[in-house]
Amino acid sequence: MLALFGGKPVRSTPFPTWPIFGAPEEQRLLQTLRSGQWGKLDGLEVAEFEKRFAALHGCKHAIGVVNGTVSLRIALLAAGIGAEDEVIVPPYTFFSTASAVIEANAIPVFADIDLDTFNIDPRAIKSAITPRTKAIIPVHFAGQIADMDAIMSIAKEHDLVVIEDAAHAHGASHHNRPAGSIGHMGSFSFQSSKNLTAGEGGIITTSNDDLAEACRSIHNCGRVTGGIWYEHHVFSGNYRLGEFQGAILNCQIDRLEEQTHTRHDNGKYLSSLLDDLPGLHMQKRPPEATRHSYHLFMLRLDPALFGAPRNSVLRALEAEGIPCSAGYGLSLPDQPMFRNKAFGPYLPTASGRLDYRESCCPNSDLVCEQCIWLEQNLFLGSRADMDDIAAAFEKIYEHRDSLKAGARSTTATEAR
Ligand SMILES: Cc1ncc(COP(=O)(O)O)c(C=O)c1O
Repeated sequence: MLALFGGKPVRSTPFPTWPIFGAPEEQRLLQTLRSGQWGKLDGLEVAEFEKRFAALHGCKHAIGVVNGTVSLRIALLAAGIGAEDEVIVPPYTFFSTASAVIEANAIPVFADIDLDTFNIDPRAIKSAITPRTKAIIPVHFAGQIADMDAIMSIAKEHDLVVIEDAAHAHGASHHNRPAGSIGHMGSFSFQSSKNLTAGEGGIITTSNDDLAEACRSIHNCGRVTGGIWYEHHVFSGNYRLGEFQGAILNCQIDRLEEQTHTRHDNGKYLSSLLDDLPGLHMQKRPPEATRHSYHLFMLRLDPALFGAPRNSVLRALEAEGIPCSAGYGLSLPDQPMFRNKAFGPYLPTASGRLDYRESCCPNSDLVCEQCIWLEQNLFLGSRADMDDIAAAFEKIYEHRDSLKAGARSTTATEAR
């Protein structure tokens, strides 16, 4: 019997928790505290982390900033994107990928995702291009790098800037090239849930000296290298990452390689275990996606083929001891902010051109309806943990009829 209806759960032991930290973080934080050098411009922690992060991601430069939303905005501003410009983004992503475009005073244009990889579809990008298109922000969703071969060739043909939103993709690679080194710039987040975290934080990567200089200036109140303190060259603000976060990140980055390896192996293994269950569509891994960082293990459940509704399966998985979620409930163009163009002071004129109620992203809508997310910390354990997850899915599949009956009785109760 399913645990949801009183049966014994597949699993009663917890999965690894997140974040993982220990004596190195404690010591380094204390050292920073005692140094009295708490700001980026006073200390050495952020500077050291920037160097290490850039090297690990195959880039010449990295600029640490306060979060992964601001990093996108700064990258757009550094690339000269502004009023009247259009930037192509996927509809299945976190709000920031598109809100950062609005904060750069430009217009996000949605291009649907591919139903197999859950990443932006290059064919949809091509159809979204207009004479006003200036940039593309592909998201490496869940930690699998988007189809960057096709995206970079479209960008070259149309002279577009590519900013990789790699908020999920620390340590991931494509043809063995690291995330953040394939486009003109990369943007990462260190927010609490991310595979590399300091609670909050973000970073921009690039190998282009001019773009790096522009990002440095924008994240530091428009100052320029060699300029004086109260001299501001461009409109911007203070978006500098702090030294306490730098200290934590310098310890977390020591753990990243091994953790990414473990997540990658476990994710691949779980995918192979679930592949034969009817109605489960795992995120398809093309051969060029050489390393998946499994920020999320993501799959789409077709209720007709699986034989039970997605939301009931989510409840059943939780009851079996497998933490999971439905992910985003809406594609971004369906969010009230876009529908109502509640853009605050931005885009007073240019936004008149677009009506997001007309955006058509059926693949993204379907993924919102059918998706199941398992978070990265589940993949830091053992293969036996993966066996448990697979066993829970198999058990639910075997008892799928009871879920349909359960769903019917719940609906009946709700109706009363
Ligand atoms: C795909 C994506 N882009 C950007 C961000 C924004 O990062 P932050 O929360 O650090 O601003 C997130 C964060 O959740 C994200 O998932």
